[in-house]
Formats: sequence, structure tokens, C-alpha cells
Amino acid sequence: MVVRLLDDQALERSSVVANCAMNRERGLTGSNGYGRELGVDVLGLITDRLSGGAGTFDWLDLCCGTGKALLECARLVGDPRLRITGVDLVDFFAGPAHPGVEFVTASAGSLVPQRFYDLITCVHGLHYVGDKLDVLTRAASWLKADGLLVANLDLAAVLSDRGRPLSRRLTGPLRSAGFDYDARRRRITCAGQRQASLPFRYLGADDQAGPNYTGQPAVNSYYAST
Ligand SMILES: C[S@@+](CC[C@H](N)C(=O)[O-])C[C@H]1O[C@@H](n2cnc3c(N)ncnc32)[C@H](O)[C@@H]1O
Repeated sequence: MVVRLLDDQALERSSVVANCAMNRERGLTGSNGYGRELGVDVLGLITDRLSGGAGTFDWLDLCCGTGKALLECARLVGDPRLRITGVDLVDFFAGPAHPGVEFVTASAGSLVPQRFYDLITCVHGLHYVGDKLDVLTRAASWLKADGLLVANLDLAAVLSDRGRPLSRRLTGPLRSAGFDYDARRRRITCAGQRQASLPFRYLGADDQAGPNYTGQPAVNSYYAST
């Protein structure tokens, strides 16, 4: 079967990426919430850092959907030192607005942030991104020295130019670049800022890959080794 690879512009117009059936409304806590999906007590992390005297706590959430979890968090913490940025391709953000939360309509792939972050998250967003590895390595460079990056990542969707999962050819370089991958939970983390580069060149994305482990149609990303 010949796979037609899409560039970023075509991918972002794809109904797989821009459809309204996907869950964009996850809350912060509970069985389907951010904490559960990320394996991180987000509220606990923020309140610990702020009560420990941090000047600010900066959280960037990529592919934030409506941003419901972010607004919930800002209201629960209720501290002006918490600054939250939610980024999504689709301008479908929840209200009412909160002074500590900004929403940016942009692709995670073209974002140029203006600050460093204590926490960067991407909850079930990389499944729809073309160059997943570039987003991860760039995000790792936006962390503060003690910042944390956590994202859901399905390595079955990261393929070689022959259409096979990169699997171990990728996990070794990811580890050397400072990432930890939990294969069972399909979760990737990076603790502390990294200037990482991986030995792969992005070729394009396939939006016809079909449902992934979440049950939703997702996007496969193709790479050549360099
Ligand atoms: C399954 S939803 C998850 C939303 C949110 N994180 C949650 O858990 O409720 C995936 C989100 O990724 C967004 N998305 C897809 N590709 C993106 C990209 N390249 N840049 C930013 N957002 C993107 C979609 O618009 C959608 O809101």
C-alpha cells in the first residue's frame, strides 16, 4: 500500500486532526482527568512549589483542547504566581476567562514561547501532530532547569521510511537525549531542560492510519535515519 504523506499545512486541515468528535474537555482530576493521564498530581506539584517560595509557576499545555483543566487549576490554586498557557490549533477554548490563563491558537509545531516553564504537558495531543519528535525536543528546551515535561506518546505511530515502527531504534536515542519512555502507559517524560537532538529526519504524516490505542483515528509520523 502506498502511503501519501502530508506536510504540516495539509495535516492541519485534515478532518482527523480538526474533527469535533475528539475529547477536548478533560478536567484536571478524576478518572479521565489530566492527573490520571499524565501520572502527575498537577495540583500538588504547583502548590508545593508555590508554598516553597517559587516566584512563579509557569505551565504550558500543548494541544490543550478547550483548556477546561487549565481553568479549573487556576481557580483551585487561586494564586497570581501561577501562569498557565494553553495552546491549540483550534480556537475552541472554554470560558469564563481567568487572569492567570492565556489561550493561544497555534500549532504546537510552530510555537515560539517567550518564557521557560516549570511544567509542560501534552495530553493525547501528539497523536495528531506531524513531527512529534521535533515538538518533544523543542519542548524539552523550554523547560526551566528543574522543569518537567510529560506527554502521551504512542511509539507505534512513529515509523521509519519503510513504514515500520522505529521502536528500539528510537528508545535508545530518546534515553540518551534525556527522555524516559514508559511503554506500558505510553507516556514520555523529561526532567530538566535539555537541548536534545535525535538522529531522525521528518518525512511527513499519514492521517489515514486509523484508530490508535485510544480508539480515535490518529496520525502516523514518518522519519528517515540520519
Ligand atoms: C484529543 S484532544 C485533547 C485535548 C486536551 N488535551 C484534553 O485532553 O482534553 C487533541 C487536541 O489536539 C489539538 N491539536 C491537534 N494537532 C495540533 C497541533 N499541531 N498543534 C496544537 N494542537 C493540536 C486538537 O485540536 C485537539 O484539541
